[in-house]
Amino acid sequence: MGVGIRRLGREDAELFNELSEADNLFDEDPSGAPSGALTLDGARAFLADPSVLFWVAEAGTLTVGFLHCIVQRRRTAGPWAELLLMEMGVHAHWRRQGVGTALVSAMELWMAENDVLDVWVPANTYAVGFYLKAGFTADEGAILVKQLH
Ligand SMILES: CC(C)(COP(=O)(O)OP(=O)(O)OC[C@H]1O[C@@H](n2cnc3c(N)ncnc32)[C@H](O)[C@@H]1OP(=O)(O)O)[C@@H](O)C(=O)NCCC(=O)NCCS
Repeated sequence: MGVGIRRLGREDAELFNELSEADNLFDEDPSGAPSGALTLDGARAFLADPSVLFWVAEAGTLTVGFLHCIVQRRRTAGPWAELLLMEMGVHAHWRRQGVGTALVSAMELWMAENDVLDVWVPANTYAVGFYLKAGFTADEGAILVKQLH
C-alpha cells in the first residue's frame, strides 16, 4: 500500500491525540508507556502553533510514522529560522521501507519553500545511522538536559 505524507493542522486534533495514545509503538523500545493525549483544545492549540511542524505518514487510514519539528527563529543575520527536529518515529512494522526518508523529504521541502537552511536533531543512538544516511553530519559538543524536580 502507498504511503502519503501530510502536515497536520488544528482540524486533525483527534487523529493527533490517537497517535499520542499509541506512540510507544513508534519508539525504539515499544514496551514503554505512550506519551498520552492532550485535551482536544490542547491538541488544537499545539497544531495551530506556527512554531510547530507535525507531519504524519499514512497508509490508507493507518498512521505509520510521524515527524515533529520546532521552528526556531534566529537572532543573527542569515536565514530567519532553523529547525529543531524534536522527534520522529516509524511504526515498528513499517520500518526500512522508506517511510522515515519520506518524512524527512517533506520536512526538507518545507525548509526549501520557507528559506530555512539548517535542521538539528538530538538523535538517539539507534537512529544515528538513519540520520547519517539522510545527510546529517555530527556536530561538535554534547547535548545536555536538566529536569527540575
Ligand atoms: C529511525 C527511523 C525513524 C527510521 O525510519 P525508517 O522508515 O525505517 O527509515 P528508512 O526506511 O527511510 O531508512 C532509510 C535508510 O536509513 C538507514 N537506516 C534506517 N534505519 C536505520 C537504523 N536503525 N540503523 C542504521 N541505519 C538505518 C538505512 O540505510 C536505510 O536504507 P535501507 O533500508 O535501504 O538500508 C525508525 O527506525 C524509527 O522509528 N526508530 C525508532 C524511533 C527513533 O529512533 N526515532 C528517532 C528519534 S531521534
